[in-house]
Amino acid sequence: MEHGVTDQGFSADQIDTSKPHPARMYDYFLGGRDNYEVDRTAAEYVVEAHPEVRPSARANRDFLHRAVRAVVSAGIRQIIDIGTGIPTSPNTHEVAREVAPDVRVAYVDNDPIVATHAGARLTNTANTGFVLADVREPKAILDDPVVRELIDFDQPVGLILGAVLHFIKDEENPAAIVATLAEGLPAGSHLVLTHATGEPHTGGVHDRAAQTDVERVYKNATASLSLRSRAEVQPFFAGFELLEPGLLRVPLWRPDGRLPSDDELNKTIFYGGVGRKV
Ligand SMILES: C[S@@+](CC[C@H](N)C(=O)[O-])C[C@H]1O[C@@H](n2cnc3c(N)ncnc32)[C@H](O)[C@@H]1O
Repeated sequence: MEHGVTDQGFSADQIDTSKPHPARMYDYFLGGRDNYEVDRTAAEYVVEAHPEVRPSARANRDFLHRAVRAVVSAGIRQIIDIGTGIPTSPNTHEVAREVAPDVRVAYVDNDPIVATHAGARLTNTANTGFVLADVREPKAILDDPVVRELIDFDQPVGLILGAVLHFIKDEENPAAIVATLAEGLPAGSHLVLTHATGEPHTGGVHDRAAQTDVERVYKNATASLSLRSRAEVQPFFAGFELLEPGLLRVPLWRPDGRLPSDDELNKTIFYGGVGRKV
């Protein structure tokens, strides 16, 4: 395949500016400009209650960069990145191609705002594609023609679920979603996953009220938030062998350079890990 491909199937009036969107709030946390007043108001509310959300978003991105480099260094040449987010440089294909220029990337997100930016910033290069689809329909993603054009399911795949599963409620069975995606991938495939938590890093009292408060902000958004403990996130790696150093606060995963301070760890609300399908 020579050029980036898309299967966007949306119209401009699908961009809802009446409700906060997680993709646009996250863009705001990262200092981006692809957000609206309604997103900034909701995001500011979260930042005021939890200033750690901004360094956490940054730490999540940094983890994803290290994890993508690791899986490409392990030989992966094709990636499905679900819950892509509004493009933020460097994007997955840019990081991957620093290691191996022939990596192919299928981006998937259910937010039309991501689709509107994909053409200029994700699929403006060969061997990338974007699909507007919902992770809650994992079979449809695996069967999507754009995904099928980019991904050879006989070869190991890198599956990225970065900061997306906390938008899936327990009753929507996130573990089953990951299992369905994983079933479609051959042994040797890698799962890169991050997930927000309300669990304190080292001891301390879990501030349930504050957690509920943040979850309430997302209740008014287009996707609700389900923070999970490490013990609740770990089962998402069923069928995968966790690579060293395991599932832990994202700055602790193979830090490149200095070790994170306790203060930084306490300000990081994401768990992250990389697994290899056995
Ligand atoms: C917090 S951003 C994460 C972006 C990027 N993966 C990262 O970790 O930096 C979450 C993204 O997941 C997307 N998302 C939320 N629910 C989704 C769903 N059900 N299916 C697909 N994407 C979803 C949002 O639109 C948003 O772009």
